[in-house]
Amino acid sequence: MSSLQQNAIRHYLQFTDLSADEYAHLFARAAEIKRKFKAYEKYHPLADRTLAMIFEKASTRTRVSFEAGMYQLGGSVVHLTTGDSQLGRSEPIEDSARVISRMTDLVMIRTFGQDKIERFAAHSRVPVINGLTNEFHPCQILADIFTYIEHRGSIQGKVVAWVGDGNNMANTWLQAAELLGFTVHLSTPSGYEVDQAIAGLRSSASYKVFKDPQDACRGADLVTTDVWTSMGYEAENEARKKAFANWCVDESMMQAAKPDALFMHCLPAHRGEEVSAEVIDGPQSVVWDEAENRMHVQKALMEFLLLGRVSA
Ligand code: CP
Ligand code: NVA
Repeated sequence: MSSLQQNAIRHYLQFTDLSADEYAHLFARAAEIKRKFKAYEKYHPLADRTLAMIFEKASTRTRVSFEAGMYQLGGSVVHLTTGDSQLGRSEPIEDSARVISRMTDLVMIRTFGQDKIERFAAHSRVPVINGLTNEFHPCQILADIFTYIEHRGSIQGKVVAWVGDGNNMANTWLQAAELLGFTVHLSTPSGYEVDQAIAGLRSSASYKVFKDPQDACRGADLVTTDVWTSMGYEAENEARKKAFANWCVDESMMQAAKPDALFMHCLPAHRGEEVSAEVIDGPQSVVWDEAENRMHVQKALMEFLLLGRVSA
């Protein structure tokens, strides 16, 4: 058992749960774990460990990347949804946490309010990972920054343009900027701004707000966006379609960015809404690497939470 496990359980509930130094370690481990995967090299450090995955919202990437990733590390998974477990029949989250964490080694949860995952973690004997909440999506930003580093090197000092909703992805980009030393240019329609308190930021020093999304993209090293309507907000869909009409990342926005700027989207995407087909399917887009990298970074994260700093 590593010292990490003996001393304290580490959860990954928001981006700020790890330090810049720990992120440097994770990115190096993710690169090594990805190399092993590509070379068909067996690597089973989590043999006999079980990951419980709890989904209260839909998923493709998060489900596949955690499930495939855990098997590749030699472990196994249990998949639960609200509909097929007692979670959907009002068993208290605290009781669910006590029970599930007695039988498994690690828990990944995708749910609605951040408070829910925090209550689960407070009653869990094992590390809990945020697989997306209304407020945050740290595993996605972990993958996005790893993808940026793979293509362009360090993200420190760079400019990331966020075009669209002030949602879980935007909040997490802002946390990452504060921690890792880059700047976010934010452009959201009026009424959909980021709330600095919800994002859990120390200050406004690492972001700048722009009314016009084109201005936010000017000089950016990376342009990124997300769906206009996140899961759980479907009732607002029609109003959002009107409000977000000018927040579509198209070729003119990419032209405002640096010539070698990358485009990212966490996916699923709606071509013709938040991004044009020309951009997401164009030469600056790295969305498929970004999606694949979810698996590599999360394998590094699971290794870290269960075994501490592995150097092999
Ligand atoms: N990006 C992401 O989390 O995708 P899923 O909703 O498919 O898991
Ligand atoms: N903001 C989106 C991300 C989906 C991966 C949502 O929460 O639905």
